[in-house]
This record gives sequence, structure tokens and C-alpha cells, in this order.
Amino acid sequence: MNAPELEVHLDADDLARSLRADVINGLTAEKKTLPPKWFYDARGSELFERITELPEYYPTRAERQILTDRATEIAAVTRATALLELGSGYSTKTRLLLDALTAAGTLRTFAPMDVSPTALTAAASRITADYPGLAVHNIVGDLTRHLKHLPTGGDRLVAFLGGTIGNLVPAERAAFLADVRAVLEPGEHLLLGTDLVKSPSVVVPAYDDAQGVTAEFNRNVLRVLNASLGADFDLDGFAHVALWDAEREWIEMRLRARWPMRATIPGVGLVVDFAAGEEVRTEVSAKFRREGVERELAEAGFALDRWWTDRDGLFAVSLARAVQED
Ligand code: SAH
Ligand code: AVI
Repeated sequence: MNAPELEVHLDADDLARSLRADVINGLTAEKKTLPPKWFYDARGSELFERITELPEYYPTRAERQILTDRATEIAAVTRATALLELGSGYSTKTRLLLDALTAAGTLRTFAPMDVSPTALTAAASRITADYPGLAVHNIVGDLTRHLKHLPTGGDRLVAFLGGTIGNLVPAERAAFLADVRAVLEPGEHLLLGTDLVKSPSVVVPAYDDAQGVTAEFNRNVLRVLNASLGADFDLDGFAHVALWDAEREWIEMRLRARWPMRATIPGVGLVVDFAAGEEVRTEVSAKFRREGVERELAEAGFALDRWWTDRDGLFAVSLARAVQED
């Protein structure tokens, strides 16, 4: 059996260096923040998979419905020979695309890229077993830094699903889309999943579920800091907060100190004090409107070829084409 190739662009040192830099920048700032990519160690990736099955968390089901309905059309329009998936995690919904592209007879290569080696490796072995003849080219990498390592040649389709683009703040999003465009040739495609603006009465429970799985996922970032940097965060001392920002149309997850606390983080030589009620922003999850997605894609050099939503209008998948720049 052919084994998946594992390309590691983020080795352990690189990963540790960027974690340290993010922790120093984020926890010494006036308003404390931690970037969401640090949720996803093995436990965080599993917690995310559990979130996708929660009754309150609609995005995964809605996106799956769209991909189920449209995968054949996506395969026919793109005729992709290589599917490059960013932030692929366990690549569960991706199988809909792999099935359609395999049935169309065009697909030769699948290259998932994720910052989390655990999810990536588990997914790649299963996909290698289930799609004989497909070259699986695993890339452990950061989608904000390592896109230049994506395979070249053929007709490529970059997929960025799940609404993960919403976890980038607007400036990061613009830089990311420009980077994707820079690695593609005119005529190649980007398939982008975006969660849509809707009532906070639907969005907030999706990020604050009754079983508390999202709260565990949120606090997992502190476990990662304890395990990787020898920190002594008291997880029980932090409450999970999900807050809708109506102006920026995003939901923020925060960790709120329940009482005054001091955390020592030997791995970065920091001692961080928290006042009672002080918060650390751990994630933004932006919700989109069609005009905004179309504009951001156009600014990066993409034309929106197709826009599909699920039947309840909760989530959208866009198929965009890299256009010739003058
Ligand atoms: N695409 C899957 C998983 C989404 S969860 C789905 O739609 O269900 C988000 C995934 O993005 C996680 O697997 C996480 O490890 C990955 N991720 C987050 N930030 C990343 C970054 N900066 N670079 C690469 N992968 C990242
Ligand atoms: C991965 N990403 C799109 C998820 C989201 O909905 O923003 C992460 C998540 N955060 C809380 N629940 C799920």
C-alpha cells in the first residue's frame, strides 16, 4: 500500500518558537489575546470534532449539505488534478470532494495542510487506504506562513472549509487571500467556506453549547500552555465567554478570570497577573455577507464564479477563480 508522504515545514522547534512569540506578544499586551491556532493539539482537535456534532453547532452540517449537493458541479467546473486543503483537520467533509473528483477521473493528488500533525496524520492514513492510486502529500504547516510549500503543477483547487477564514482578523484575511492568489495560476480555483451573518440567538449557542464542549475547547489553549511551556494556569479559574460583536459581525471567545490570579510561564520567562474579571481573547469567528466575500476575493485577485448556501441560508460555499492580474 502506498503510504502518505509527510512533509514537515513546521518542525518542533519552529512550532515552539512561534508559540513562545505568540504568548509573549499576546499576554503582555494591554488587552490580552492568544491566537486560535494553539487550540489544536491532539485533545483540541478531538474537541473540535465533538463540537461539529453538537446540536447547536450548525456550520458543519450546513456546509456538508452544500458540498453534498454541489460536489459534482465543483468537480465539473474545476476539473482539478490536485486538491490542496488548508486547515484540513480530519478532512471529514473533504471526502465529498475526493469522491466527486475521483468519479470525474481528474484527481491525482491530495495535499492537506494543517498546523496539527495529529489530525493530519490520522486523516491521511485513512484517505490513503480509501483512495488507492491517489498521491497523498501531507503538509504540517501554518497557512499564514507556508503556502509556498503547496505542490505546483496541474489544475489545482485550494479548499479552505469550515469557515476557518473567519478565525483570521480582517488584515490577516487580506494577507492570506493575497498569498493564496500568489501561489495559484490564472484559472485555478479556491473553494471557500464562510459562515453567514444571522441572529445572535443562533450564533451564540453554537459557541456556548449546553454540554460545555466549546468551553473545554476554549480552555484547552491554557492546557497547551501548561504542557508546552510549563505554565501553571488554573483552568477552573477561567470562565468561557462567547460574545457577539454586532458592529464587526463576529463572535469572540474569551477566557475570563473568575478571581485575581497569577500565572507563571517558565517557557517564556513570564509572570502574568489577571485581575478578577479580566479577559483573554482566544478567537474571533467572523460571519460574512455575500458582498463582503465577493469584495475580499476581488481585492485579492479572484472572481466569484459560484455562490451556494444551504437550504436554511446559514452557511455559504464560494467557488472563486484566480484572475489574470494586469
Ligand atoms: N476543515 C475542517 C477543520 C476545521 S478546524 C472542518 O471544516 O471541519 C480548523 C483547523 O484549522 C484545525 O485542524 C486547525 O489545526 C487548523 N488551523 C488553525 N489555524 C491554522 C493555521 N494557522 N495554519 C494551519 N492550520 C491551522
Ligand atoms: C474552526 N473554526 C471555523 C471554528 C469556528 O466556528 O470558528 C472553531 C470553533 N470555535 C468555537 N467553536 C468552533
